[in-house]
Amino acid sequence: MAPLDMKPNELEPYWMPFTPNRSFKKKPRMFSGAKDMHFLTPDGRKVVDSSSGLFCVNAGHCRAPIVEAIQHAAAKLDFAPPFQYGHPQVFELSSRLALMAPGDLDYCLFANSGSEAVDTALKVALAYHKARGEGGRTRFIGRERGYHGVNFGGISVGGMVNNRKAFGNMLQGVDHLPTTYDRSKQAFSVGEPEWGAHLADDLLKLITLHDASTIAAVIVEPVAGSTGCLAPPKGYLERLRKITADHGILLIFDEVITAFGRLGHGFASERWNIVPDMITFAKGVNNGSVPMSGVMVGKGIYETHMTGPDYLVELFHGYTYSGHPLAVAAGIATLNLYRDEGLFEKAQKHEKLFAELMMSLKAEPNVADIRPIGLMCGIDLNPAGGKPGARGYEAIERMYHEHDLYCRVTMDTLIVAPPLIATESDLTMIRDRIATVLRAVA
Ligand SMILES: Cc1ncc(COP(=O)(O)O)c(C=O)c1O
Repeated sequence: MAPLDMKPNELEPYWMPFTPNRSFKKKPRMFSGAKDMHFLTPDGRKVVDSSSGLFCVNAGHCRAPIVEAIQHAAAKLDFAPPFQYGHPQVFELSSRLALMAPGDLDYCLFANSGSEAVDTALKVALAYHKARGEGGRTRFIGRERGYHGVNFGGISVGGMVNNRKAFGNMLQGVDHLPTTYDRSKQAFSVGEPEWGAHLADDLLKLITLHDASTIAAVIVEPVAGSTGCLAPPKGYLERLRKITADHGILLIFDEVITAFGRLGHGFASERWNIVPDMITFAKGVNNGSVPMSGVMVGKGIYETHMTGPDYLVELFHGYTYSGHPLAVAAGIATLNLYRDEGLFEKAQKHEKLFAELMMSLKAEPNVADIRPIGLMCGIDLNPAGGKPGARGYEAIERMYHEHDLYCRVTMDTLIVAPPLIATESDLTMIRDRIATVLRAVA
């Protein structure tokens, strides 16, 4: 065994997630610090963050109130068992989130990642139906191109092919709605596309096929994020809400990306004035500073579980780190910051300018589509000569090494989602750097 004080200095042992490891390790891209709109590199460069990390650092990096809250919590209460015990702040954060959430989504279950939040919501849906004597409702309906994390529940309802194909059968009894995206009908739409609301009616076909009495829940992202920012067609979400309600099927909105200001509201549900039965959240809840996620649950679902002897556990589910004191402290400080700096309103104010700036990239080489909504935008590039993903990867390399820009890229799609603190000149600078990169990878 190597001595415990050995200081290894090599890249090999870390198997990096969602990363081409061999290419990365030949030419690494490292961040060693961050502040506000920027990452800092070990060689002292400031790299502008145009995707809020992974859509989580909505208030900008290393904000003092959040840093201090985490430091304080670490020194005061490093851990509190979440099973059978609590700590005051986790109740405070739950109450704050319940106030923010739409309708009667007044109850909060905590987890540690978006993937865990999704699997939690799916399990709650099953448990709810069983508790009501409708245990036959075990099917889930997801959507093609949906992303709901990487756990077995999430990849089962998810619809991103590469995330599924290596992993066997997954959950049984899952079906999918068609994607709402059709470039031939919607290319270069700003906000919600005009075409596509009728695709919600495919749910009726699935209900006919499987029978409503077998379906527990439908899960969709209000705006599909990781697949490239696909806004819902006008009227689509409303139709999904109506059909699910008519058939006793729960509607879960996966708001892991869309909550906390990305679409100008605490929860994006508010933007469409829709109350789903559950909302999953993560990322922006504490500005990405400490792993945390959760599920907002409707009162009816919570109350259905509050039966049986009151000394017995009602829901056999939870994580060692559910409502961890550091994550919670960061969450409360983050919500305060969003409120004090009016960041959701700021996102609303900047939506139009952001869309104009993004749409102005239309003339750059290889741009196949641009889709802005709120403060997020997908930019599809034509793949380079028969090699899907190659142009996107070149863009990642050039952005970091040559243009001091960070932007999330999946395959050949850029997903721009700047921190909500971005000023007009930050947004313009991001647009200009993207334009330079697009020319460089032409
Ligand atoms: C909508 C949605 N759900 C779930 C997840 C999974 O979150 P995590 O990576 O924290 O597990 C993501 C991550 O981007 C997401 O966008």
